[in-house]
Amino acid sequence: MSEHEGLVSAYASDAERDAEVSVRPKRLAEFIAQHRVRDQLDLLLRGAMGRGAPPDHILLSGPPGLGKTTLANIVAAELGSSIRVTSGPAIERSGDLAAILTSLAEGDVLFIDEIHRIAKPAEELLYSAMEDFRVDVVVGKGPGATAIPLDVEPFTLVGATTRSGLLTGPMRDRFGFVAHLDFYSPADLETLLHRSARILGVPITDDGATEVAGRSRGTPRIANRLLRRVRDFAEVRADGVVNRENARAALAVYDVDERGLDRLDRAVLTALVDSFRGGPVGLSTLAVAVGEQPDTVEEVCEPFLVRAGLLARTPRGRVATEAAWHHLGRTPPTGTFGAAPPATPDLFSAET
Ligand SMILES: Nc1ncnc2c1ncn2[C@@H]1O[C@H](COP(=O)(O)OP(=O)(O)OP(=O)(O)O)[C@@H](O)[C@H]1O
Ligand SMILES: [Mg+2]
Repeated sequence: MSEHEGLVSAYASDAERDAEVSVRPKRLAEFIAQHRVRDQLDLLLRGAMGRGAPPDHILLSGPPGLGKTTLANIVAAELGSSIRVTSGPAIERSGDLAAILTSLAEGDVLFIDEIHRIAKPAEELLYSAMEDFRVDVVVGKGPGATAIPLDVEPFTLVGATTRSGLLTGPMRDRFGFVAHLDFYSPADLETLLHRSARILGVPITDDGATEVAGRSRGTPRIANRLLRRVRDFAEVRADGVVNRENARAALAVYDVDERGLDRLDRAVLTALVDSFRGGPVGLSTLAVAVGEQPDTVEEVCEPFLVRAGLLARTPRGRVATEAAWHHLGRTPPTGTFGAAPPATPDLFSAET
């Protein structure tokens, strides 16, 4: 299984990204939660509109599925501007970027997704465009090459990244505003689910929303996906309503448990607890025990298990926390948790 598959993966296929458009909030007022970011953006955009100038360049950082693309589109909508969309990997040559930049109209929003993956020469071209609204396009090769300066209309760059740590210092410094998106609380996801259900025309009860929200790993994308799966179940096998009973039954079919763990997540914890008495055990041993590649265990399962306070990475290996034993319905042995740091579930702060 790759990290791009699975019902509780935060990554989306192209088809899913298309499906997401219908429930995507269009304006800042519809964007759920993230109050700090919303407030700051509201001020930034209103301030700029008051002055009649494009706002500072905006960097949106945070894990997948938390609303970066959504916010980029909202920025353009609030400004009443057109948005041009591209991505770091799509800009292979600086000429590609120069063509985009010089075709922008005054006040346009340029959205560069996965901006940490932009090629170096293009990145340098972007610096001068962001700072001075001009680019030097080099024509020709070798000693005869000449740089032709071209003007770029004042625009706003919105960059998105899931890996802000990979951005270069000069790149980061050129953004006047940096927004970090955090994981959502279950209560926020309930609000989000009620909104999505209304748009999709699916009846949902409060306890149904609570049930789905609790399994969504703090991520709007996962919440919306689970909602679609529960809707299928409710329509095919029940009365069409997303309530607690239908949500539980549907997500049992899909092997997603109360905390949002899937089959592999649970296999990892079960192996730790049952075969290694809670650990510590090395990553490769643990991977063999569940029949997966170490990379998969480390990159697909562990981030969420750690965030949920169910697994700890220690210098001596992986350890199941006390909460993990309880989650599996086992009684933890007493006095074995000195080796592991205390389990502090930290579901809502995003580390990038
Ligand atoms: N605050 C929010 N309110 C309502 N819906 C949201 C919110 N944030 C995200 N969503 C929904 O979650 C889905 C995923 O959001 P989005 O595509 O913006 O995530 P992303 O951060 O760009 O992810 P990726 O890093 O994979 O590109 C969208 O369908 C969007 O409708
Ligand atoms: Mg996106």
